[in-house]
Amino acid sequence: MPDLNRRLMTSKADFGATLLQPSGPFEPKDGEVVLALDRFSLTTNNITYAAYGDQIGYWNVFPTGQDGYGMMPVWGFADVVKSRAEGIEVGARVFGYFPMADTLLVQAEKITRGGFADASPWRKAVPDIYNRYVLCTADANYSAELENPEVLFRPLFITSYTAVDFLRDHDFFGAKQVVVSSASSKTAYGSAWCLGEDDVRLIGLTGARNRAFVEGLGAYSSVYGYDEVESLPTGVPTLYLDLAGDPALRRRVHAHFGANLKYDCLVGSTQSDEFTQNDPELVGPKPEFFFAATCLDAHRERGTLRAFYEKFFADQRAFFERVIDPASPWIRIVEHKGLGEAARVVRALADGVSDAAEGAVVRIVR
Ligand SMILES: NC(=O)c1ccc[n+]([C@@H]2O[C@H](COP(=O)([O-])OP(=O)(O)OC[C@H]3O[C@@H](n4cnc5c(N)ncnc54)[C@H](OP(=O)(O)O)[C@@H]3O)[C@@H](O)[C@H]2O)c1
Repeated sequence: MPDLNRRLMTSKADFGATLLQPSGPFEPKDGEVVLALDRFSLTTNNITYAAYGDQIGYWNVFPTGQDGYGMMPVWGFADVVKSRAEGIEVGARVFGYFPMADTLLVQAEKITRGGFADASPWRKAVPDIYNRYVLCTADANYSAELENPEVLFRPLFITSYTAVDFLRDHDFFGAKQVVVSSASSKTAYGSAWCLGEDDVRLIGLTGARNRAFVEGLGAYSSVYGYDEVESLPTGVPTLYLDLAGDPALRRRVHAHFGANLKYDCLVGSTQSDEFTQNDPELVGPKPEFFFAATCLDAHRERGTLRAFYEKFFADQRAFFERVIDPASPWIRIVEHKGLGEAARVVRALADGVSDAAEGAVVRIVR
């Protein structure tokens, strides 16, 4: 069934439960544009947006007007199909933050050669980065053939990369070993790839279901199951790069390494709906939440931001090419057709049963 004038809402009580509903068509007024979503990615990161929908404000970005339901945000590519904003041409392709819907009406502001932002007042709930639409023609790093890896990894790789940059900048807080939880997540193995040349031993921690996948990546020096935390090698200063966010797992990791645990870098929460930094039962360092902005602000202050971005974009492209390298791809990118299939992908992600070896991209059907 075509997705024309439809949207996929998410139940706030069960992030795997979705509801297809009519939406649009939209007629832009002065200063407005209509974006037709073409391709978007779905990963656990999107489920985390829903989990923090109220706390961080992601539910406010695309209001539904319907109690109990929100629009779970996704990252995607779209085309401008109607425009009453000067400087934004019909036919232009953009990358940005979207609801899972056929079209999105935006109030264009901050229009430059590189893109524009949505000035809708409800979007003030989140930082500017979520409200900006980048024009592909003005993006020197855009490549049409790489849209699938880009839509999947671009929202994640900036965090993988800046986290590593931040840790390097602090000499890994004295650690010689980095333990990475939810090692099968894209954000985790993005960081592992970045750490390939660093003088630290990389240990991936994962569940039984994803262990073979993580071992197959070859990105970690060794791989352990969650049931083997107590067998992890000790006696070396260690850093915890936490993508799982699971408080019970964190307690075990802290207890096992004791005084040798030098830092706990909290990046994700694939296995938890709360960023629990204050746990009275936790021994050792308090988990420090990581934001990409921490690293970018440090570069801005030092005047090294331009150089940082130059290297970042080159490395990001190399990473995209690595994950889809036809000789030994890290993942299989699967294109799902339409919002109906997106609903099934969301269900699997929310239930934690999706295949780590597959990257889900959804194409809107018109
Ligand atoms: N701080 C930031 O700014 C930032 C930026 C980007 C991403 N993140 C966070 O990083 C995390 C990873 O996101 P991603 O998109 O990279 O993930 P992903 O590629 O979809 O990988 C998800 C992995 O998480 C674990 N998992 C997922 N759902 C689960 C469940 N219900 N129960 C148990 N385990 C589950 C599984 O790994 P294992 O079996 O290996 O545990 C799974 O392979 C998310 O929490 C995301 O929000 C944070």
